[in-house]
Amino acid sequence: MNIKPFRIEHYYAKYEFSAKFMLSSSDAQSRTLGELLSLEPGAREAMDEHWLGYTEAPGAPYLRQAITTIYQTQEADDVLVLSSAEEGIFVAYHALVGAGDHVIVETPCYESGLEVARSTDAEVSTWQRHYEDGWAHDLGALGQMIQPNTKLLYINTPSNPTGTNMTPEVFASVMNLAKERGIIVLCDEVYRELEHDPSQRLPAACDAFENAISLGSMSKAYGLPGLRLGWLATRNKSVIEKCLHFKYYTTICSSAPSEFLTALALRQRDVILSRNLEIVQKNLPLMQAFFERHSDLFSWVKPDASPIGFPKVNIGGDVMAFCEEIVRETGVLLLPGSVYDQPRHVRVGYGRSNMPEALGILEDYLKRRD
Ligand SMILES: Cc1ncc(COP(=O)(O)O)c(C=O)c1O
Repeated sequence: MNIKPFRIEHYYAKYEFSAKFMLSSSDAQSRTLGELLSLEPGAREAMDEHWLGYTEAPGAPYLRQAITTIYQTQEADDVLVLSSAEEGIFVAYHALVGAGDHVIVETPCYESGLEVARSTDAEVSTWQRHYEDGWAHDLGALGQMIQPNTKLLYINTPSNPTGTNMTPEVFASVMNLAKERGIIVLCDEVYRELEHDPSQRLPAACDAFENAISLGSMSKAYGLPGLRLGWLATRNKSVIEKCLHFKYYTTICSSAPSEFLTALALRQRDVILSRNLEIVQKNLPLMQAFFERHSDLFSWVKPDASPIGFPKVNIGGDVMAFCEEIVRETGVLLLPGSVYDQPRHVRVGYGRSNMPEALGILEDYLKRRD
């Protein structure tokens, strides 16, 4: 298997734990283990008693049951628990496609959505969205891309890096097209449930049709990436079966403490999501106002979901060098768009509670730099 270096994670590895202010993070504000346990009476004592043996390979039954509460039509057996969405992407591609198959990937996207597909020996086409079109989805282009051997379509809504959701019409059309043409949809929904207006939430793909897989995670909307816990949900039994067989070669089963803590977090998901949404709703207008004050430098399609956005940076020079200068001089970390093959953009994050401070520091620096 050949796989390219993961540019997003390489950039983050260089700065994430040394930069003082994360102004590009894609995960919502996290919380301590103690804070999570305090959400339920008796949770700490139950954690002390939690058995540290292997867990069931498809995921502990109580956890799969808790995950079904996110969906309308899923049963516990429709869920495969994994040690993160990253494992979900790896397992799904390698279990489901290979040489002779064609895969379509919506781009720009989180790098593994594209590069893991390429590592399978399948032929890969990109369904490209463009800033100039407001990151719109070109359904005509998607239709033309489909081949007789197109087996899987990867989409990501709400999207990393744009922070925008598909429109309900586009989502329904994509699902119908996939249904008609017998294509599996792998829908990366790690930012789902963090729509800025919750009434705009799309149906989960796994509820929309039987050949669609929803990829979920505790990392983003829930802000608990340290749990390293994700899942695939689908009514297609053969997909679950194939992915389970692959999982025996990756992690066998997930972490017992993480399964326990994830089930707890999901029982309390309203509390967790509403705190995270509150931070996003408070921060986003500040970021919007910042971009308006600096409209000579930044322009964006305002996100409608997730804690991230992907503005265009109107500078003459190299945006990567600009980001490196900013982190060096201020400790504020932006993510250069070149890691998404979008070299004129940066990814910003507004899901952290210290975002106003980070934005203030960036603004002071930009004024001094003028
Ligand atoms: C769209 C998308 N999918 C998957 C992942 C991986 O998430 P996890 O932390 O669950 O591995 C990320 C992480 O940034 C992401 O943005």
